Amino acid sequence: MTKSVYSFAYGSNMSPKRLSARVTVIESLGVYHLSGYQLRFHKAGDDGSAKCDAYYTGDTQDVIWGSLYKLSADDKATLDKIEGVGNGYEEKLVEVSNSAGETVNACIYVATRIDENMVPYDWYKTHVVSGAEHFQLPRHYIETIHAIEAQPDPHRGRYLQETAIYSRHPVLPQEDDNYGTLDASFKAAGGEEGVKKLVNDFYDNMEALAEARNILNMHPKDLSASRDKLFRFLCGWLGGPRLYREKYGPISIPMAHKQFKVTESDRDAWMLCMEKAIADQPYTPKFKRYLYEQLMVPANRVHQVNVAAK
Ligand code: HEM
Repeated sequence: MTKSVYSFAYGSNMSPKRLSARVTVIESLGVYHLSGYQLRFHKAGDDGSAKCDAYYTGDTQDVIWGSLYKLSADDKATLDKIEGVGNGYEEKLVEVSNSAGETVNACIYVATRIDENMVPYDWYKTHVVSGAEHFQLPRHYIETIHAIEAQPDPHRGRYLQETAIYSRHPVLPQEDDNYGTLDASFKAAGGEEGVKKLVNDFYDNMEALAEARNILNMHPKDLSASRDKLFRFLCGWLGGPRLYREKYGPISIPMAHKQFKVTESDRDAWMLCMEKAIADQPYTPKFKRYLYEQLMVPANRVHQVNVAAK
């Protein structure tokens, strides 16, 4: 039997939808609380916005509410990597209690990098509020979270990506557009010429954007082969001619990226280059949105497979 670990989630992972998108199996043991700590939004995130922290005060009047999860050791290891244990957060073992007075020793993440001037992004606060509402935490506590100042994420694609799990009406291709069937998407992207332009703009963005420095460094210095590979791959992926297979043979996108360490912020940087490239194309707004959301699927896979493999 694989070992399991108790994890007390009080920030964005409290949201079952958020946590399910990050690990394979979640089992919630319900609402628990942690005394002597305050919920603070002051952990300095890599993306320049604030994340939650369980801040130790030692005052038993201070309480953090959350959900106790039982995770497999593998899932816990995956979560540690996503959260960045050793890089902004560290793990701590604490005693949490439930309303029946039962106590459990559980792991929490506490911030090691704090910036009181940082403000959380709107989507991050949405995760925390969603978890708090899901577990019906005390009303005054939910109100306190609601009252936290949040800022709109200037990277609109990331906002869509983060909040897609809560959307009751996921954006799907419209019947009349038929994107995703036969070569409708390939045509909407302007055929080979259009895809070539998209990919060139994408790699130009990667060369220009500071946020993409890390992923640019994973690539060879001369990007011409990378441009050719992505162009050929996307033609087939959009329902057009299978140009990648013709030249390079079969490919599995997650497997093709296994040798790179693709973190969440690398994935976001890749999507940012794509978001800007898509915005510059003469596509309809509907197709722009569709293409962006479809590309999120393999981009997430590249990141997830990568995290799982390490
Ligand atoms: C999530 C972030 C991603 C990162 C950081 C990333 C990074 C890379 C890197 C460093 C290479 C090697 C370039 C070369 O050898 O020329 C590569 C290759 C490639 N990538 Fe990505 N990639 C990401 C996502 C994607 C996605 C979502 C797709 C497809 C929709 C994709 C399609 C490709 C293709 C087709 C190749 C060529 C593979 C080969 O022939 O070996 N990548 N990627």
